[in-house]
Amino acid sequence: MRIAVLGTGVVGRTLAAALAGLGHEVTVGTRDPAATLARGGPDGFGTWAAAHPQVTVTALADSAADADLVVNALSGDASVAGLGAAAIADDTVLLDVANPLDASHGMPPSLFVANTDSLAEQLQRAYPRLRVVKSLNTMPARLMVSPHDLADGDFSTFVCADDADAKALVSSLLADLGHRDVVDLGGLESARGAEAFMLPWLRLWGVVGSPLYTFKVVR
Ligand SMILES: NC(=O)c1ccc[n+]([C@@H]2O[C@H](COP(=O)([O-])OP(=O)(O)OC[C@H]3O[C@@H](n4cnc5c(N)ncnc54)[C@H](OP(=O)(O)O)[C@@H]3O)[C@@H](O)[C@H]2O)c1
Repeated sequence: MRIAVLGTGVVGRTLAAALAGLGHEVTVGTRDPAATLARGGPDGFGTWAAAHPQVTVTALADSAADADLVVNALSGDASVAGLGAAAIADDTVLLDVANPLDASHGMPPSLFVANTDSLAEQLQRAYPRLRVVKSLNTMPARLMVSPHDLADGDFSTFVCADDADAKALVSSLLADLGHRDVVDLGGLESARGAEAFMLPWLRLWGVVGSPLYTFKVVR
C-alpha cells in the first residue's frame, strides 16, 4: 500500500519505519520539510530520516494525495487543521492514533473533547468523505509496532469505525504488526471510550514507573 504518515514525532517515526519494514511505500508529511530535516542530534528528525532512506519526507500538502491509507500522528489539537493541509482524497482510510490531550491546565493532561464526543468524531465531521478508524491510541509508540515487547503481546488493541471495510483494512494491518487481540469496539462513536482510556493511562505512568503498559480485556 501507499501509506502517508502525518507526523514527525515518536509515533510518526515509529509507525513509518515499521510500515516501511512491512514493505509498504511510506511518505511522512510535515509542515516544513527543510526545517524538520534540519533537526539534528540523536533525537532529531533529520538523524532519523537519514537512517530511514526508504521513507520519503514531504510537505503535508504533497504527502497524502495518492495514499491508500493515511495515519494521523499529529498532536491532537493540530489534527483538524493538519488533515486539511494534507488534502487527502475522498474515501481514503484515515487511521487516527491521536489523543485529544490538553496540557494547558497542568499535568497530567486532560482531554479537550470527551464523554459525548471524541477527536475521531471531530475529524470525521470535518472531513466526512474520509473513512476514519480509531486505533492504537491506548499504548505507547513502541507497542504499536512491537507488541511482543510487553507480555508477549498479550494485551488488547481497540478498533473503532463506522466503515466496515476501513475497519477490516486497519485490523489486517494490526495483525501484520503482531497485534493478537484486536477488539472491535463498534462504530466511531466508541472512540469516546478508546480516547478516555487516556485518563487512567496517564495516571498509571507514575504507578508503573515507565510508559511500557497498556490495557487488556480479561474475559
Ligand atoms: N507518544 C506516544 O507514545 C503516543 C501514544 C499514543 C498516542 N499518541 C498520540 O499520537 C500523536 C503523535 O504523538 P507524538 O508524541 O509522536 O507527537 P506530538 O508531539 O504529539 O505531535 C508531533 C506532530 O504534530 C505536528 N504538529 C504540532 N503542531 C502542529 C500544528 N499547529 N499544525 C500542524 N501540525 C502540527 C508536528 O508537525 P511538524 O512535523 O510539522 O513539526 C509533529 O509532526 C499525538 O496525538 C499523541 O497524543 C502518542
